[in-house]
Amino acid sequence: MIRLAYGRMLRDALGGEHGLPREQLADLARRFTPIRQEVQSRRAAGEYGFYGLVDQGPTVRAIKTFAEGLGQAHDHVLVLGIGGSALGTKALLNALRRPGWNEWDDEGREFFPRLTVLENVDPTSVAAALERIDPRRVLVNVISKSGGTAETMAQYLVVRAWLEKALGQAADRHLVFTTDPNRGALRELARRDHISTLDVPADVGGRFSVLSPVGLLPAALVGIDIDGLLSGARRALERAESDDLLQNPPALYAALHWSADVSLGARVHVLMPYTDRLREFAEWYRQLWAESLGKRVDRNGKVVHVGPTPVGAVGVTDQHSQVQLFMEGPFDKVITFISVEDFGVDVAIPNAPDLPEALPPDLAYLPGHTLGELLRAEYQATSAALAQMGRMNCTLRLPDLSADTLGEAIMFFQLATGYAGAWYGIDPFDQPGVELGKRLTYAAMGRPGYVSEEHDQSLGDVV
Ligand code: PA5
Repeated sequence: MIRLAYGRMLRDALGGEHGLPREQLADLARRFTPIRQEVQSRRAAGEYGFYGLVDQGPTVRAIKTFAEGLGQAHDHVLVLGIGGSALGTKALLNALRRPGWNEWDDEGREFFPRLTVLENVDPTSVAAALERIDPRRVLVNVISKSGGTAETMAQYLVVRAWLEKALGQAADRHLVFTTDPNRGALRELARRDHISTLDVPADVGGRFSVLSPVGLLPAALVGIDIDGLLSGARRALERAESDDLLQNPPALYAALHWSADVSLGARVHVLMPYTDRLREFAEWYRQLWAESLGKRVDRNGKVVHVGPTPVGAVGVTDQHSQVQLFMEGPFDKVITFISVEDFGVDVAIPNAPDLPEALPPDLAYLPGHTLGELLRAEYQATSAALAQMGRMNCTLRLPDLSADTLGEAIMFFQLATGYAGAWYGIDPFDQPGVELGKRLTYAAMGRPGYVSEEHDQSLGDVV
């Protein structure tokens, strides 16, 4: 089970000057009642659709059948998608398959396929991927909830032409679409061309969809335990049912972060896992927190311009990069560490007698320890040092990095985001701010109905 250690968010653990006063906890706990009621009533009205993802037995069975049959017969899975249709899959692969997955040979990958997520429309990465991957051995999973996202559809047109060039009519058999059950261009294409599809539940938005077929299909294809993901998610959900804020970890996380932002101006929220395997998870969190909470208007239409700025970091790497700023820069940050208690593997730092030459005295403390011990010691030291400098930080303690634990962590952050939306008084499930950029892009690309005059191409002063 995941634990949230939040003591170092509080002033009494930070030298008495910075951080949240302990009395604020009681205040937040009191104010939690209407927040919880709001979340419950909106959930009943169908807004918080991601809660339902823990109960999707028939979908999970269909995914497993597909993956274990046709799916894993391919050497490579190529995912086309962007934003919420890509980041979760990358996080799952990074956390739950061996590091450097695509570099291992078949045996090293236990005969599961390689997985590439073609997230961007950068021609250099797309061209390189299509040169590297064999179209005869690939399964292409096109993922788009709306079924019309320009980047994903452009990727699709490129990849489809590439498949057809190599395979002719057989190209269709290398495609599977994950999209809205009824709407969108991708659904229309699937019907027309008889392409296999999986549904993204209509009430689950992109950045909350990793535990739907959006993330579960690619995960199952590369041999990730998708039942484990969902059982962990279920546990997170059960723990989030408490009406007592102090017994409801994701709600407490949301309340503390909201409070740090609005009462102390700590609006930079850093997620810093102490493991390379959660690097992509931090990217996934960044989108979830930013796109859900950064809003111009509140639920009543009042202009508020709220939203914390999420930042991703990785321990220990960022101790030699961003941590200087976290320690001594402005008091505008909250750092969430993720520590993993058991990696299931460790690497010993060899004892000096094993080495051909004696070590210089300055290095003699290292042998006899392990890399895991060094990693843990550095996390503990960084958290303690930040606290001594009056810097708010908290830790999510993960027992391990299994599918079950990761599923719990994913659901924890989705729940926290849902609660944070209620604390900020905004709708965490829309993203109106990206619409103008989309319209201007359509105009620039000549899409009918979009006027290019709207697009001021001048960048102003240039030197
Ligand atoms: O969270 C979101 O809704 C967005 O980030 C979407 O996931 C992203 O824009 C891609 O959308 P779609 O899945 O419709 O192609």
